[in-house]
Amino acid sequence: MSDAQRSAAATAAALAHEAPETVLRAAIIGVGGISQAHHAGYLAAGADVVALVDPHPRGLAARAQAWGVERTYSDFRALFADGDVDLVSICAPTSVHAPATLAAAAAGVHVLCEKPLALDLDQGRTMIDACRAAGVVLMVNHQLRSHGAVALAQRILERGDLGDVTHVRLRQAHDWAGAAEVRPSFATRASSGGGTLLDNGCHLMDLARYIGGDVDEVYARTATRKFAGELEDTAHVSLRFVSGAIGTVEVAWTATGWEEGFWIYGTQGALEYTNRSGTPVLRHAFRASPGTTWGDTDVSEHRFAGDAPHARHVRAFLSAVAGERSVLCSGEDGLEAVRLIMAAYESAERNAPVAVHEAPTTLPV
Ligand SMILES: NC(=O)c1ccc[n+]([C@@H]2O[C@H](COP(=O)([O-])OP(=O)(O)OC[C@H]3O[C@@H](n4cnc5c(N)ncnc54)[C@H](O)[C@@H]3O)[C@@H](O)[C@H]2O)c1
Repeated sequence: MSDAQRSAAATAAALAHEAPETVLRAAIIGVGGISQAHHAGYLAAGADVVALVDPHPRGLAARAQAWGVERTYSDFRALFADGDVDLVSICAPTSVHAPATLAAAAAGVHVLCEKPLALDLDQGRTMIDACRAAGVVLMVNHQLRSHGAVALAQRILERGDLGDVTHVRLRQAHDWAGAAEVRPSFATRASSGGGTLLDNGCHLMDLARYIGGDVDEVYARTATRKFAGELEDTAHVSLRFVSGAIGTVEVAWTATGWEEGFWIYGTQGALEYTNRSGTPVLRHAFRASPGTTWGDTDVSEHRFAGDAPHARHVRAFLSAVAGERSVLCSGEDGLEAVRLIMAAYESAERNAPVAVHEAPTTLPV
């Protein structure tokens, strides 16, 4: 158990001792699109959302009314000065993740931080160190770790049913629902840190590490094909894992519709997951029956209707705060995902493979 988890366990034990019925009090910083998933997750897990922060008064007022939250702030510093919160979800643009996390740590508040963790590695390291020193949990919202299909894939991998992993393919692609422009939080490097490679790619880099272990080299290509501006809207990355397996990451803001998928191939079987057809399906292909042919294998299929990875991830955060389980996606995990993306940007710039240990510590400016 880490220092942060020990301290969180002590906090939870103290809360339990003082008042067995204590309901944890959450705040949300940034009440745009993704905050809805956090809010729903807290409600589902039985926590109270007691305060909201956003500099835009109309959006803030609308959320406060819809969610019945009385305490609202235009600045997160005022929230922490007032106190009376146990946890915070940081759902503001990426440039706000570090200052808000540092303020939360200083106030002794546990943090569920949206992805990507930070705009540079030094900033991310400072966030991790501050949370550790304060004894608060820092968890990163790479919610794919809480996806039912990923959890099942993990169990199949751990049982060894796939044999040795040979290659993986990871994909997250959409087209902003057909919009003509990218939303402001994502449209500039100053706000978001990068385009689809960082936005979608950091989830997939985390997933790559989660299912395949450490990656030691990347080779990337990026393109800007649809959305005029400074950020890439299409990217591919080739991965080399320390294990010797290889992988590809494919991300786009230029793919009509939405797909999240992962394909894991091993010496004894294959796992293929996609939500492209609307119904998320994980297909496990293997050869247990005698007489299987070239194109005809044994197959088991698993469907994930109603699966809610964000809500499960919030629940995992609350469990980590209570000391019931380890942090599912730590600050270090978030930092490694950003490191892989930095190496990928460097690779695209050089048009050459880049060793991950040579990754620049900042995103391109
Ligand atoms: N985990 C996921 O799958 C996922 C999905 C979407 C977005 N995200 C991440 O969540 C973050 C927000 O994305 P979004 O889609 O909700 O963006 P959004 O533009 O819909 O909302 C961002 C909100 O933050 C507010 N904001 C701006 N500066 C702020 C500040 N200093 N303090 C408090 N609030 C501030 C904005 O007014 C806006 O309401 C980004 O880091 C993004 O990468 C993660």
